[in-house]
Amino acid sequence: MLGTIRRVLPIWAKMVALAAPFVLTPVLASAEMAESSVPRETWSFAGMTGHFDKAQLQRGYKVYKEVCSNCHSLRLMKYRNLAEPGGPGFTEGQVNTLIKGVEFEDTVDANGLPAKRAAMLADAFKGPFANEAAARAANNGAVPPDLSLMARARNAPLNVPLYLAPFQWLSEIARGYQEGGPDYIRSLLTSYHDKAPTYVMDAQGKLTPIPEAQAVKDTLRCVSINVAEGAGKKDECNKLAEGLYYNTTYPGHQIHMPPPLAADGQVDYTDGTKPSVDQYAHDVSAFLAWTADPTLEERKETGLKMMIYLLILSVLLWFAKRQIWARLH
Ligand code: HEC
Repeated sequence: MLGTIRRVLPIWAKMVALAAPFVLTPVLASAEMAESSVPRETWSFAGMTGHFDKAQLQRGYKVYKEVCSNCHSLRLMKYRNLAEPGGPGFTEGQVNTLIKGVEFEDTVDANGLPAKRAAMLADAFKGPFANEAAARAANNGAVPPDLSLMARARNAPLNVPLYLAPFQWLSEIARGYQEGGPDYIRSLLTSYHDKAPTYVMDAQGKLTPIPEAQAVKDTLRCVSINVAEGAGKKDECNKLAEGLYYNTTYPGHQIHMPPPLAADGQVDYTDGTKPSVDQYAHDVSAFLAWTADPTLEERKETGLKMMIYLLILSVLLWFAKRQIWARLH
């Protein structure tokens, strides 16, 4: 026994040493971003038995349609997906009503001239801009990214000090935490502030935050600061650039997207849910979690069935093994 441990240990040590850079790099990188902390929310689709809340997805679609779709496309989604199992649970008839009035210009009439046609269930969601240049021109030079996979493309940075990062990381693996994307989007949508925080610079060139109420004439407003490295250098204040917005969740804290959810009541909810900015942010984030992972429910159900099957199989195999080896025991 001891001999085996002695033989195996160096292999383990080597494996750990080799794996450490790969494991630690993302941990350290995300810990550096910890300044923009993203709270972990409770989502109905989290965990092994997670399911999308159909009513929430329907509200999320409404927020997307009325607000986000003015700038963002969802080109990987088809209108028919809205009526498929595991999604918002609209009927085909309801979807047909939702897309009434949407037109595509990709066909020709009897004379071969370009013509319009009504959207069908089989069509992909129609985007707001004809091309990238048009999108850029309308958004102060930035292209609003397609949101189909956004909930998968973003993650919530670790929100603990560096020395605790490995623990949070391990605990999130153990809990099967996969909702970093929706957590990030929800937080992004509710992290706008009118003004960047105030700082003063002392004689040594060090920037210190001061409360807004104490702001004086030479107070600086910085979306972020670069702390000086080395003696004689001054801290740098990154001021909010012209036409950008201060957002504490977005890396770098200045974003081209104007606050899309500005006031309670902006989108009408018909199911009695409170129409607040926080609720819109939750609902549209859940909707985007579905567009990024439309088969989540099916996958989780199959996974759970497999686990139960393997559990029963293990018990049977254990009994079979006892039976087969009974004579030798
Ligand atoms: C007025 C146009 C506009 C509207 C409306 C809008 N966005 Fe944006 N959005 C943008 C632009 C422009 C960017 C790119 C930002 C940048 O590059 O600085 C962006 C970026 C994003 C990003 C990516 C942020 C990142 O981490 O890169 C997300 C997520 C997002 N928007 C979600 C939404 C949601 C959800 C809504 C609806 C509630 C919405 N947006 C409404 C213009 C808009």
